[in-house]
Amino acid sequence: MIQNGRILVTKNLHKTYQMGRSTIPVLSGIDLEVYEAQIVAIIGPSGVGKSTLLHILGTLDRPSEGSVIIEGTDVFKLDDKKLAEFRNRTVGFIFQFHHLMPEFTALENVMMPGLIAGKPKKRISDRAQSLLTDVGLEHRVNHRPGELSGGEMQRVAVARALMNDPKLILADEPSGNLDRAASDALHELLWNLSRKDKRTLIIVTHNHELAENADKVVEILDGSIKNIQFNQIV
Ligand SMILES: Nc1ncnc2c1ncn2[C@@H]1O[C@H](COP(=O)(O)OP(=O)(O)O)[C@@H](O)[C@H]1O
Ligand SMILES: [Mg+2]
Repeated sequence: MIQNGRILVTKNLHKTYQMGRSTIPVLSGIDLEVYEAQIVAIIGPSGVGKSTLLHILGTLDRPSEGSVIIEGTDVFKLDDKKLAEFRNRTVGFIFQFHHLMPEFTALENVMMPGLIAGKPKKRISDRAQSLLTDVGLEHRVNHRPGELSGGEMQRVAVARALMNDPKLILADEPSGNLDRAASDALHELLWNLSRKDKRTLIIVTHNHELAENADKVVEILDGSIKNIQFNQIV
């Protein structure tokens, strides 16, 4: 259940890493509210904890302290199995490196989250085909990642993230390895797909122009939120 339009809320998030005998603080008290259909950019210099935060928001990593509530569920109270099911259903992830499986075709890679969710194969295959068409790759469905360009691989990753129709898309510098043209095309695609289906997009980016097009910009510094800028009220 979504509370007052808030799809994601974090409370006092802390994350420390243990390296031998020393404790490295990375996040120290992040309170964040994200509304349904909002596009949120997370910015900040390298090493300040942006990826760590996004992984915790996507439930791929547990915080040392604090909570994350997604669609009304206090996610880290779930056991690992329930959490994995919740993640697969609710969150779509796009990483800096595509993380596609090299031995599978674009179509099979996009189908994967649907297969994990145990949906009927024909339905998954049809949806994967249609998502690949949405991202402009209808002519590349049977290509393997090694036979695709960097921009195409990221577009396959976008289609894969949408497979289970998640409300929440998390993208960690998804165009970090692309040239300017491919990067612009990927951002336009992410924006359009998110707006069209009223999905929530949280994107870590170094691109200030891009951040200006988000509804809200969250600036992280030294593990805390330094500033929140609202570009548009949603
Ligand atoms: N698994 C880990 N073990 C120890 N330190 C880590 C680990 N992952 C990240 N860090 C440290 O946490 C800090 C933040 O990393 P990260 O979240 O990747 O930053 P950003 O994405 O903002 O560049 C860095 O100093 C990094 O070295
Ligand atoms: Mg990072």
